[in-house]
Amino acid sequence: MTLSPPSPDPQENGKRSAGEAALDFIQDGARVGLGTGSTVKYFLLALGERVQAGLRVHGVPTSRETAELARQLRIPLLPEQAEWTLDVAVDGADQVDPHFHLIKGGGGALLREKIVAAAARTFIVLVDHTKCVPVLGKPMPLPVEVTPFGWPQSAKQLQALGGVPTLREKQGTVFETDGGHYILDLLVDSIEDPVQFEARLNRIPGVVENGLFVNRTSTLIIGSPDGVHITHCSSRSVS
Ligand code: 5RP
Repeated sequence: MTLSPPSPDPQENGKRSAGEAALDFIQDGARVGLGTGSTVKYFLLALGERVQAGLRVHGVPTSRETAELARQLRIPLLPEQAEWTLDVAVDGADQVDPHFHLIKGGGGALLREKIVAAAARTFIVLVDHTKCVPVLGKPMPLPVEVTPFGWPQSAKQLQALGGVPTLREKQGTVFETDGGHYILDLLVDSIEDPVQFEARLNRIPGVVENGLFVNRTSTLIIGSPDGVHITHCSSRSVS
């Protein structure tokens, strides 16, 4: 395999080493959920090389961006509107707590990411060492995907949960997800009970999905300056 050149930035090196380490978990013939973001991109580049060398896989991309990259790398894709049983899904995260609960959605792909993670027998999470935190929350806002219709109503109810919601923008206009929804980035001091918080978020009308991934991680791969650390987690609940 042609490795990506090392970067002078330790965080970037952590992303690269985590991404490349995930390749060991992909078997010939596997059906693979393909995550979104700058960490998973290293996994996709490495997977694309293997595919071009003869590995047979089929992927389900979690965003248009990932679908485009997968096509460029000639990774075959399954139809979007199908029932897939995936062997594994590989994705990044914005924060990971000591119980392997996650905040995801910094790239705005949380809805598809959660659908794909739930369709996979195992969910492999790739992060660099800076993403590991003692408790989820500030300074990372929790992305909450909402319908454009009545979004200020959803924002008001999110605020009542004790957070500060901000409508996500990109280049001066409202950010729209691949599903045509908006994102409210909810700044919460600390999410002490992610299980309960996720349930409360899901009860708010207009909330389509939220970026808390609770009890979903099967394997955590951390790329850090002192090497790659792999933890197999036992807390995953199967959907
Ligand atoms: C996108 C995500 C990403 O996995 C998350 O934002 C991490 O991205 P990166 O690897 O670029 O830091 O959830 O919706």
